[in-house]
Amino acid sequence: MSTSEPKRWVRACAATDVKQGEPKGVKLAGIPIALYRLDDSVYATHDVCTHAYALLSEGYIEGESIECPLHGALFDIRSGKCKAVASRDLATYAVRVEDGGLMVAIPVSGAIEL
Ligand code: FES
Repeated sequence: MSTSEPKRWVRACAATDVKQGEPKGVKLAGIPIALYRLDDSVYATHDVCTHAYALLSEGYIEGESIECPLHGALFDIRSGKCKAVASRDLATYAVRVEDGGLMVAIPVSGAIEL
């Protein structure tokens, strides 16, 4: 996601809803987003694999990467960088905790093109 693009913070779920080792899919203003807990931090990426069409929230966390359930593309959860199979990186979104909820910074314009 471009850092210069205007963003707004949207509540995704309770902070306790995102568990270690279990990606969680949410839709915020029409944007499919996958949330991941790595130790004490939560990260957010676009939920749709850049290779074809599969939801990464249905994939497998391998260390600090998410593996797509369809053809095995690997993406770094923190940076969205593609590490295998696909050729494009994932959009990532800032996450913060507020009043026990997870807030995700999404583009003001809503859904983004892949
Ligand atoms: S759709 Fe994700 S690896 Fe092909």
